[in-house]
Amino acid sequence: MNRIFSGIQPTGNLHLGNYLGAIRNWVKLQKDYECVFCIVDLHAITLPQDPAELRKSTREVTAAYIACGIDPDACTIFNQSTVSAHTELAWTLGCLTPLGWLNRMTQFKDKAGKHRENAGLGLYAYPVLMAADILAYKATHVPVGEDQKQHLELARDIAGAFNARYGVEYFPLPEPQIFGTATRVMSLRDGTKKMSKSEESDQSRINLTDTPDMIAQKIKRAKTDPHNLPDSVEGLKDRPEADNLLGIYAALSDRALDDVVAEFAGKQFSEFKGKLSDLAVATLSPITAEMNRLMADPGAIDAVLRRGAERAGGMAKRHLAEIYDIVGFLRP
Ligand code: TYM
Repeated sequence: MNRIFSGIQPTGNLHLGNYLGAIRNWVKLQKDYECVFCIVDLHAITLPQDPAELRKSTREVTAAYIACGIDPDACTIFNQSTVSAHTELAWTLGCLTPLGWLNRMTQFKDKAGKHRENAGLGLYAYPVLMAADILAYKATHVPVGEDQKQHLELARDIAGAFNARYGVEYFPLPEPQIFGTATRVMSLRDGTKKMSKSEESDQSRINLTDTPDMIAQKIKRAKTDPHNLPDSVEGLKDRPEADNLLGIYAALSDRALDDVVAEFAGKQFSEFKGKLSDLAVATLSPITAEMNRLMADPGAIDAVLRRGAERAGGMAKRHLAEIYDIVGFLRP
């Protein structure tokens, strides 16, 4: 059985990158796989979080999953901290992860910044917990955006290290699924930087909670260059903003990039931006409206998460018992 595991951190607003790079692909995949979708609150506290905001954000991400089209009856949706097997397995896996592997992780370097000595152990061990998330379910496939590729390679290495250490074929090596025309959506203010929740300027991203006016305004103000749009994909080279905006258009309209480039060849940014803005509003407004409707009933969201935690917890606990047997923990 092919099983998918993926997750999103409940930190701040979900944005167009999370939607195009991750959730939208999950919606398409849910028909063909058994799916486990997590709200990774344990990962969120690797950086300081306000407790009330964390709770709100956990419900908001859950609402976003459902509003985007994830079926909570067919898929398992839960928040990570409700299933203790994640942290338990992370310890076992941490004991076979060499520091050298963790030292290569670029996300840690970016997030720890210049003051590495002050960074928390959790931030450093973050990718081991991520491997535990995936392996607790013996997931075979992990759909994510491009930025998670290195973490997934590490998860595969850790799975392989466990199998080798104990001479078993227990964990499948999870396959990354990074696809679509928008695997790396860039900031609207700087086409060389990733669109991110942690970027200070809200103008840099389109949030799933933005109103149509906000979306239109952000696209209107998005950074461009002084030239008209090119007539071929090769013409996007060294034009990161044009590349990003046309890529977003292609992804939102489910069309190939060269097709979209051909449509807008030689046009001015202003004309293209009007079309992009209409398309973004038409795609995102129904999602925002559904999220708001769901958020008005937190009890119903919590019920989805409770049900998900039961299902996920049952599966992960079964696997953890098998793993503990392999490791040699006595169960007296
Ligand atoms: P997170 O919360 O940063 O992002 C959630 C998902 O959105 C994708 N994404 C993007 N895709 C395209 N363009 C962007 N600008 C962009 N920004 C974010 C991410 O690639 C991701 O798929 N470590 C993970 C969460 C996690 C996880 C896991 C994922 C924890 N355990 C196990 C998969 C499997 C993270 O911080 O994602």
